[in-house]
Formats: sequence, C-alpha cells, structure tokens
Amino acid sequence: MELSEVLRRRRMVRAYAADRPVPAELLDRVCAAALRVPSAGFTQGVSLLVLTSAKQRAAYWSAAAGSVRSRWLTGMRTAPALVLLWTSQEAYLDRYAEPDKGWTDRDPERWSAPYWFVDSGMAALAMLLTATDAGLGACFFGVPAARIGAVRTAFGVPAEQLSVGVVTLGYAAVGDVPGSPARCSRRRPDELIHQGVW
Ligand SMILES: Cc1cc2nc3c(=O)[nH]c(=O)nc-3n(C[C@H](O)[C@H](O)[C@H](O)COP(=O)(O)O)c2cc1C
Repeated sequence: MELSEVLRRRRMVRAYAADRPVPAELLDRVCAAALRVPSAGFTQGVSLLVLTSAKQRAAYWSAAAGSVRSRWLTGMRTAPALVLLWTSQEAYLDRYAEPDKGWTDRDPERWSAPYWFVDSGMAALAMLLTATDAGLGACFFGVPAARIGAVRTAFGVPAEQLSVGVVTLGYAAVGDVPGSPARCSRRRPDELIHQGVW
C-alpha cells in the first residue's frame, strides 16, 4: 500500500473480530516496525511486552481495569493481541553520559523533551501504520496511572521501566464504529501550521 494510503486509512479500532487471531508473521512484522524507528543517540530504549494467549490477555485486563465494566472495555477486550510499550529513562541517561554526548551529570533538566517518550511515540506510530498496511486494526491507549504497578507485577516488568501505553491488534469487528474523528472534525492545517512566524 502507498504510504499516503496507509496514513489516510489508519484510524483507531476499538472492537475486533473475536474468532480471528493475528497471524504470527504479521505480529512479528508490527513488532519489528517498532524497533526500526529512529531513537535519540540510537539508545533503543523502548521495549515491548507481547500478550497473545487468553490467559495473558485476561491477566492484563484484570490488572489494568479490575472489575470496571464499560462499552470501551468490552470492545477492547476482544483484541486477540496486546503489545505493551515500555521505555527506560535510565537507558537514555546512561547513553547520553557516554563520551560522544558527555552529559555525565545525568541531569534530566538538560533534556529539551523526554526523548525516552519521544522515541516511544515513534515506535507506536510505526506499529499502527504497519498494522494498517497489513490489513489489521489497531488502537493505542494508555494504562491508567494507578494501575501501572499492578501491570508491572502481573508480568514481572522491572520498576525502572516506564509505561508508554498499549497497542491492541486484530481484525476490526464488522460494525466497529470510528471513535472521536466521527464526532470532532480534524483541525484545519492553517490552525496548526505556522508559516515563517507563529
Ligand atoms: C497518546 C495517545 C493516547 C490515546 N489514548 C486513548 C485512549 O485511552 N483510549 C482510546 O480509545 N483512544 C486513545 N487514543 C486514540 C485517539 O483518541 C485517536 O488517535 C484520536 O481520536 C484520532 O482518531 P484516529 O486515530 O482514529 O484518527 C490515544 C491516542 C494517543 C496518540
């Protein structure tokens, strides 16, 4: 598919065909895309936790949502694959303390933006675009802050790893309705693109 077509077609999918698992080679392709993105200082500090079995997925939803019920959760729980993205601030501080960067004080104040999360966004977008290109549906969303500890415990994720969010993957359910773009329109380019001066 042409890149412009992938960009045009991509949208968040929040309900999945229950009887259609993600073929292993497509899951591998989506995960590989997350590792192929640029990273600050080539730190490569973003890691993935892939959950595909019913037991693993149930453990995720239990840790992340407990007994909460909602229409959103009902749809999202149908996703046959979940990929949790994690990032390491420590990895970036370590990398930038190396001689070619020289930030040996490891002071987080030096950072114009937290590159550990910038790189995570690049990884997530690469996954979403690759999923679209592969004919899959996908959605990015965050783990509720109060639940991150429970998710870490459920899957043995080290405390140093920061939660970025989750990408659900699967084939879109028939009748999956688009989310917010159906309700709010996209902002006009001239509202957001400043030519020469703000
Ligand atoms: C950082 C981030 C967090 C998001 N969190 C959620 C979320 O918690 N739940 C959800 O359903 N969608 C979430 N989304 C998806 C946005 O709602 C969606 O991208 C936006 O409405 C535009 O729709 P589209 O991606 O389908 O074009 C998130 C997207 C981003 C980039």
